[in-house]
Amino acid sequence: MLDINTIEKLDRIATPFYFYDMDLFYKTVDHVAELAAKHDIKVHYAVKANVERRLLEYISGKGFGADCVSGNEVLHAHSCGFPAEKIVYAGVGKSDKEIYEAMKLGIEAFNCESLQEIFVINEMAHVHGLKANVSVRINPDIDAHTHKYVTTGLYENKFGISNHEFDKLIEIIHKSEHINFIGLHFHIGSQITRVNEVFSLECLRVNEIVKYFESRGLRIDNINLGGGLGVDYDDPDGNAIADFETWFNAISDNIVRREDQAVHVEPGRSLVAQCASLISRVLFVKSGETKNFLIMDAGMNDLIRPALYGAYHKIENLSAAQRSFFPTFQAYDIVGPVCESSDVWGAGRLLPLSVRGDIMAIRSAGAYGQVMASRYNMKNLAPAVFSDTLDDAPQVVNYFE
Ligand SMILES: Cc1ncc(COP(=O)(O)O)c(C=O)c1O
Repeated sequence: MLDINTIEKLDRIATPFYFYDMDLFYKTVDHVAELAAKHDIKVHYAVKANVERRLLEYISGKGFGADCVSGNEVLHAHSCGFPAEKIVYAGVGKSDKEIYEAMKLGIEAFNCESLQEIFVINEMAHVHGLKANVSVRINPDIDAHTHKYVTTGLYENKFGISNHEFDKLIEIIHKSEHINFIGLHFHIGSQITRVNEVFSLECLRVNEIVKYFESRGLRIDNINLGGGLGVDYDDPDGNAIADFETWFNAISDNIVRREDQAVHVEPGRSLVAQCASLISRVLFVKSGETKNFLIMDAGMNDLIRPALYGAYHKIENLSAAQRSFFPTFQAYDIVGPVCESSDVWGAGRLLPLSVRGDIMAIRSAGAYGQVMASRYNMKNLAPAVFSDTLDDAPQVVNYFE
């Protein structure tokens, strides 16, 4: 919960904006670094979750690698301090230009998602006299028990290579002289909350697959288990740091590894989600025929998760919390300004009586928030404001003066 002093400062900043709690961010990353060292597990941060330079520079400074899914992410991660040899690059649709640039940089591995991609990378390496590191993304057909839009490890999903192609894949790897095969990659989905069950199962399946590949003469130096650890969107203060311990324990207890075999994970959401809130202001309070609407200045263009996945974000009225300890509550449909009926933050949410000008915090917005923002309706992009530099943020303009 924010202190009064901080809320007063936030109230003076032009909304909407992403507010980053840097103390929580540092604490989260430091906690993961400690656990990773203890379990001898290497961490690649999944850059797609949030590309803010300050966050990336801290994460790279901790010695983590980067997991990227586009050429621009690779270049950005590199410019934020991730050395090329700690950058992996996944994604089902890498363009020739993206492959070439990453290859020139000498990244740790292309996580290849199809046989054709391996063929193209091998050919390009040949033409340019290079050797490309390749890991192969496998689709292990495991149900992550999460939203269908963030499930990636089932045969019905477009990601990875499935077992009906394993023998062909192994043959291609053996024949491709311009790639350096380093291992296997898995990522079965995101926002996984049945942590022990799902990740234990993933490890058991991975053990079988690794054994199969090794029995066909391939050396697996690298086992990358992907990301996916879920966060608590209902109770961001109660569970500000995700359950990394259960995740790392599930892996350590179930993965079978040689002493010289590296195990990698790729957390995105769990490293950054809880450290940011989208701060928005109530523009109007409108009484509908059957309900009351709070119309905010932040919309689906700023944070698309509710409109895209029906995702839940806790919403707090920060101004009302200052006005009274014992407020009267009322149910509101909280909506954005964008001209789409799906631009809804939450229906029937119980909040303290709210008035025009109140500032609201849309919690747990640090992952897949700012990165997915658009300028739809020609809205401006909400900037990042950091807790340790609050006074530098653009201030509210009063148009009535
Ligand atoms: C290949 C890969 N690795 C890691 C992640 C990060 O997942 P999460 O943010 O759930 O940890 C993703 C996200 O979709 C991904 O596609």
